[in-house]
Amino acid sequence: MNDWQVICKVEDIPVLGARRVARARGGDVAVFRNDQNQVFALLDRCPHKGGPLSQGIVFGTSVACPLHNWTIGLEDGCAKAPDEGCTTKFACRVESGDVLLDPVELATLAIDVAPAQSA
Ligand code: FES
Repeated sequence: MNDWQVICKVEDIPVLGARRVARARGGDVAVFRNDQNQVFALLDRCPHKGGPLSQGIVFGTSVACPLHNWTIGLEDGCAKAPDEGCTTKFACRVESGDVLLDPVELATLAIDVAPAQSA
């Protein structure tokens, strides 16, 4: 079992927004918080044309991409129909108010993709 890495506190993430986690290799990870204080982590890259999902607006368990307004599910990273495609999802936990990510996933998932486009 991996040692989970503390990223920040839940309250460090704006409600209905996100915080970006930079990685040495690969694109940034966006950690989202919704109005129920649920926290989700996705690659900060829209499956459409690479928009920065961390700059989108969270609603329910989805985020609206800031570039062309696709709706991306925070639980699976996938676009809602009729749009198609998924971005990489990262495991995420909250413990005692701390947000934790899996360091193995941070080091290995989606390390071959380009960074998000600017909005
Ligand atoms: S890049 Fe996200 S909707 Fe187009």
